[in-house]
Amino acid sequence: MNGKRALTGLILVLIIIAAGSALMGCETHAQAKAIMARGKCLDCHTIGGKGGSVGPNLTNVGGRRTRDFIVQQIKSPQSHNPNTAMPSFAGRMTDQEINLVTDYLAGMK
Ligand code: HEC
Repeated sequence: MNGKRALTGLILVLIIIAAGSALMGCETHAQAKAIMARGKCLDCHTIGGKGGSVGPNLTNVGGRRTRDFIVQQIKSPQSHNPNTAMPSFAGRMTDQEINLVTDYLAGMK
């Protein structure tokens, strides 16, 4: 009896943890998307079939670029390509915002 109760309790806890982290994932992705909408990233980039084609499609960018590369690209695209069409977002996004967007992009593999 006790064993069964403990197991039920454990399963409940696991479900709560899973649901909680799924919700947090949605929340941070929603924030990242809102920041990217403000930065007009999709004027130049496509994600999931939507957006522009001035820059590379970012749908699977996490599979070909590291986190560090993406942070650097957002802060100083000139450091990767002196003639880049991409503006620097260093003064326009906080470090926290850049981190959120980078987590989102790096997670797309
Ligand atoms: C005016 C057009 C433009 C805008 C706006 C823009 N980018 Fe870019 N981006 C580019 C171009 C062009 C490249 C290709 C590399 C280069 O030439 O610098 C690029 C490259 C990148 C890359 C590297 C992709 C790869 O595969 O190497 C990332 C990541 C990226 N941009 C993220 C962003 C994010 C995030 C935003 C918004 C905050 C943004 N870009 C806004 C034009 C733009």
